[in-house]
Amino acid sequence: MFHAQTLSGSKPEQYAQLLAQARSLLQGERDRVANAANLSALVYHALPALNWVGFYFHDGRELVVGPFQGLPACVRIPLGRGVCGTAAVSGQTQRVDDVDAFPGHIACDSASRSELVVPLFDGPQLIGVFDLDSPDPARFDADDAIGLEAIAAAYVESIR
Ligand code: SME
Repeated sequence: MFHAQTLSGSKPEQYAQLLAQARSLLQGERDRVANAANLSALVYHALPALNWVGFYFHDGRELVVGPFQGLPACVRIPLGRGVCGTAAVSGQTQRVDDVDAFPGHIACDSASRSELVVPLFDGPQLIGVFDLDSPDPARFDADDAIGLEAIAAAYVESIR
């Protein structure tokens, strides 16, 4: 059985603990849906002030919703559209303090105020994105981006 451990210390220390939990959760399993499901649940319950955590997968044409925690979400997002599609096309993490100020933001849950999207690439190949929404404005800082990029990298590594 998985036992969640309470995170403690500075934010980078907390992310180091969360990364270790993520690695142990993913270890020995390569299924991308199983690992995305467990990682969504781990992160959603470990971090405060989140209303949506999950994955969109690239199906060769656009992004399609995968495993997540939170309210039902938009199913398909064209590349280049919204925060997710922008992360996928640019290859850059998108950290949005105010989703209403982001041109083309796609509102799935009206409670969302800020958002962090990490693109998932295996080398040059786009796998999808890892998306987190918060009901708080400016919920995500640079430490969150670095910590969640490391967790996203552990996910990509696990399905290789
Ligand atoms: N807000 C995202 C859409 C996905 S939901 O947040 C779950 C976007 O603009 O791409």
